[in-house]
Amino acid sequence: KPVVLSGCQPSGQLSIGNYIGAISNWVKMQDTHDCKFMLVDLHAITVRQEPQKLTEATLDGLALYLACGLDPDKSTLFIQSHVPEHAELAWVLNCYTQMGELNRMTQFKDKSQRHSGNINAGLFTYPALMAADILIYQANEVPVGDDQKQHLELARNVAERFNNLYGEVFTVPEPMIPKVGARVMSLQDPTKKMSKSDDNPNNYVGLLEDPKKIAKKIKRAVTDSDEQARIYFDPAEKAGVSNLLSILSAASGRAIDELVPEYEDKMYGHLKTDVADAVVAMLEPIQQRYQEMRNDPAFLQQVMKQGADKARAKAATTLAEVYKAVGFVPYP
Ligand code: AQP
Repeated sequence: KPVVLSGCQPSGQLSIGNYIGAISNWVKMQDTHDCKFMLVDLHAITVRQEPQKLTEATLDGLALYLACGLDPDKSTLFIQSHVPEHAELAWVLNCYTQMGELNRMTQFKDKSQRHSGNINAGLFTYPALMAADILIYQANEVPVGDDQKQHLELARNVAERFNNLYGEVFTVPEPMIPKVGARVMSLQDPTKKMSKSDDNPNNYVGLLEDPKKIAKKIKRAVTDSDEQARIYFDPAEKAGVSNLLSILSAASGRAIDELVPEYEDKMYGHLKTDVADAVVAMLEPIQQRYQEMRNDPAFLQQVMKQGADKARAKAATTLAEVYKAVGFVPYP
């Protein structure tokens, strides 16, 4: 089976952007792929995190993965810091990644603007750790939202560079970007992506939010003020409306083309009500299962241990090959 790897940062509550752009697609791959899904806590500390909140967000994230339908008997579910080989390979890959390449990363530019008081080396070399996450499992495919495309391209370049020097050590991974929902946009500023760590909570919808609050946020979403207030899909001219249509499409499972004609004589308010209802309906079963999982810490412990042990077995094999390739003396 092709190997698939992906993950979310426990840098806040997972959002409908993470679900629509990533997790909902992971769920569908579990029977056809050898899937490895993690919570990337090592990545999360590239931005300052409160320790207690990071712990809670990581456990919440694991419970949410399960609640969304990720199955620990089909997929390997784990927490990144439980597999130390990620950090070890990241060091090696740092030495095969150019400053110039990292300088071009738009996420670094965005995040260093947002966190200008803490532009640390880890934030800069984030893509080398992400490359390690992927390459250590010899992943064939990486399902990600549009925003991660550039990082994945870098991982491919680093893998090819390493292979050219030392032989076929790494599988070169392919990106898998969903057609719908690849970039769920911010509700108040639909020209930027929805982010779970946005300073303004009205910009995102968390997977664990109260249905009333979700409806309120969606009803307040920015549309636009063109006089005719027509509803159609055009992300360039009608960013807010198009974002709402995309969310509705993902939450209802209906194509945008099929939805648009239904709003011919309707107003923005109608669309927002339908989006809110569809998002609440999509999240209701997830929230219910989340509660069951989160109230069973012994089960969560078992899932994370089983996942980490399985992941480590594969990760250690790749790391040993890498160390051999660069010429490190094997441990006696
Ligand atoms: N708005 C989005 N639309 C579609 N996909 C998205 N993803 C994230 N936001 C959207 C996808 O979710 C996966 C996990 O992302 P992440 O949590 O590792 O980090 P991120 O991309 O940096 O997400 P956030 O929410 O913006 O986190 P913060 O605010 O902490 O930086 C990825 O596959 C991503 O594409």
